[in-house]
Amino acid sequence: MLIDSHAHLIDRRFAKDLGAVLDRAKENGVEVIINVGYDLESSFEAVNLAREYDFIYTAVGIHPHDAARVPEDYLGKLKEFCRHTRVIAVGEIGLDYYRKLSPRLTQRRIFREQLALARELDLPVIIHDREAHQEVMEILSKDKLPQAGGVIHCFSGDREMALACISMGFYISFAGPITFSKANQVHEVVVQVPLEKILIETDAPYLAPQSKRGQRNEPAHVRFVGEKIALLKNIPFTKVAAITTANAKNLFKISP
Ligand code: NI
Repeated sequence: MLIDSHAHLIDRRFAKDLGAVLDRAKENGVEVIINVGYDLESSFEAVNLAREYDFIYTAVGIHPHDAARVPEDYLGKLKEFCRHTRVIAVGEIGLDYYRKLSPRLTQRRIFREQLALARELDLPVIIHDREAHQEVMEILSKDKLPQAGGVIHCFSGDREMALACISMGFYISFAGPITFSKANQVHEVVVQVPLEKILIETDAPYLAPQSKRGQRNEPAHVRFVGEKIALLKNIPFTKVAAITTANAKNLFKISP
């Protein structure tokens, strides 16, 4: 069994055939999906979706892209969502200096405020870091992490950063990009990071794996990520599935 630890089922691209997408996920051994919010609306809808499906859990949070357009009282709203038992993390939160859809200062403020919320509620955090490695690391080492820990999603840093994150108490999550043949840096990170610290994800509908490139990604494809890890580490796929599933359950406190 597998856990897709990061998908965006609220995305418009799933509006027409979500039922079929979830059926295919189950057929491909996906036992649990963590559905991740990126603004207040998607977080609210994600909470509602988790009421309908017992294998979908929810993370609520403001993505750095959306940092500039949050209302004044967004933290109160997020806190309200977190009262729901199916909300298991604050995310995705972090910094994105690649697309720069929100000013850097705003991104930093919204990131730190949500980190503080996660500490207050002791929920794990799901961190988004794109071309902002140094500042993400600075903030994470300055501000304390929640006791509950967290995960760096779709990890794109180097080996040193991965090991620093692990020593802070983070899990490292890998997505479709590890299936690309030329992704040498991230392949090295996969080899170096102990399996006990690894989660797998799709980030669907984004980041389709090599064999599905150009298509909409979906949770069923998380197995391609697991298979690539098995190949890179030269271990059986069943072991990757079992350990990454146990890791995700441990981080998000999902009972077996
Ligand atoms: Ni995402």
